Amino acid sequence: MAYYIKEKVAIVTGGASDIGLCCVKQLLQNGLKAVTIADINETKGQEAINKLSKEFGADKAIFIKTDVTKPDEFEELFKITLKTWKSIDVVINHAGILNDKQWETEILVNCSAVVRGSLLAMQYMGKDKGGNGGIIINISSVLGFHPLASCPVHVATKHFIIGFNRSLGSAYHYRTTAVKVITLCSGLIDTLHLKEAAKNAITGLNPDIGELLSEELQALPSQPPEAVGKALILVIAKGDNGSVWVTENNQPVYEVVRTLKSV
Ligand SMILES: NC(=O)c1ccc[n+]([C@@H]2O[C@H](COP(=O)([O-])OP(=O)(O)OC[C@H]3O[C@@H](n4cnc5c(N)ncnc54)[C@H](O)[C@@H]3O)[C@@H](O)[C@H]2O)c1
Repeated sequence: MAYYIKEKVAIVTGGASDIGLCCVKQLLQNGLKAVTIADINETKGQEAINKLSKEFGADKAIFIKTDVTKPDEFEELFKITLKTWKSIDVVINHAGILNDKQWETEILVNCSAVVRGSLLAMQYMGKDKGGNGGIIINISSVLGFHPLASCPVHVATKHFIIGFNRSLGSAYHYRTTAVKVITLCSGLIDTLHLKEAAKNAITGLNPDIGELLSEELQALPSQPPEAVGKALILVIAKGDNGSVWVTENNQPVYEVVRTLKSV
C-alpha cells in the first residue's frame, strides 16, 4: 500500500549537509509537515535551518545537536521531536562515517546507532506502544553488497545494516508495530572527498591501503546527492517492509531481492 508523507513528521540523523540535507529538502518539497534534523555538526545544522526557513517557511524544520553514539542525546531527540511536532512518522537513520582508521567509532556510528535509532523509532511510532505506525529508512550503501579490499570495516558496517533491516523488517514485527523497515543503498556520491577518505584508511595492514581506497572508490560510478533524495521519496511511497533498494549512477532506484536456494 502506498505511503503518503503529506502531513507527516520525520527525523533525519546526519541531515545537516550533503546527502542528508538533500533528503530533508525532498521530503519538504513532497509535502512533509515538518522535520527534525539531528546532527553532531552544530554549525552546519544551523546553516541548514536558515536555508530551509527561506525556502519552506519558518515552521517546517528544527535542528537538534545530537551525537547518535550517545544514548541519552538520541532519546532526547525523540522526546523533543514529539513535544514540538506532536507526532513522529518517519525516521531516517542516515548519519554514517567512512573511517576505518577509527573503526571502533565507525562501528558505533554506522551499526550501534542504527540499531538504537531503529529501536527508539519502534518505541515512539509502534502501534503496540500507542503510536500510529510509520517508516524507518536506514541508509546503507552499494558497499553493503560489494566488497572493497581497502575498507573492510566500512563495508562490513554497510552489510550489517542490510541484515539488521531485513530481519527487523519481517512480518513478525510489523504485525504488532505497523512500522515498516526499509533499506536504501546509495552508490558513490560525487561530493565525496577521495583524498580525505584515503587518509582514513585502516592502519596495521598494507601501507599503500590509502591509495587503494582512493582508487577503489573512484572506480565506482558516482551520482549527485540529489539522486538519493529522489530515491528516498519513491522508496518511502512504494517500499515494502524489509525491502532493500539501490540508487546508483544517477539511474532510477531499483529493488534488490536476495534469497538462498535453501529457504
Ligand atoms: N558519500 C558517499 O559516497 C556515500 C555513498 C553511499 C552511502 N553513503 C551513506 O550516506 C550516509 C552519509 O554519508 P555522507 O557521505 O553524506 O557523509 P557526510 O560526512 O557528508 O555526512 C554525514 C553526516 O552525519 C553527521 N554525523 C557524523 N557522525 C555523527 C554522529 N556521531 N552523530 C550525529 N551525526 C553525525 C555529519 O556531521 C554529517 O552531517 C552514510 O550512512 C554513508 O554510509 C554515502
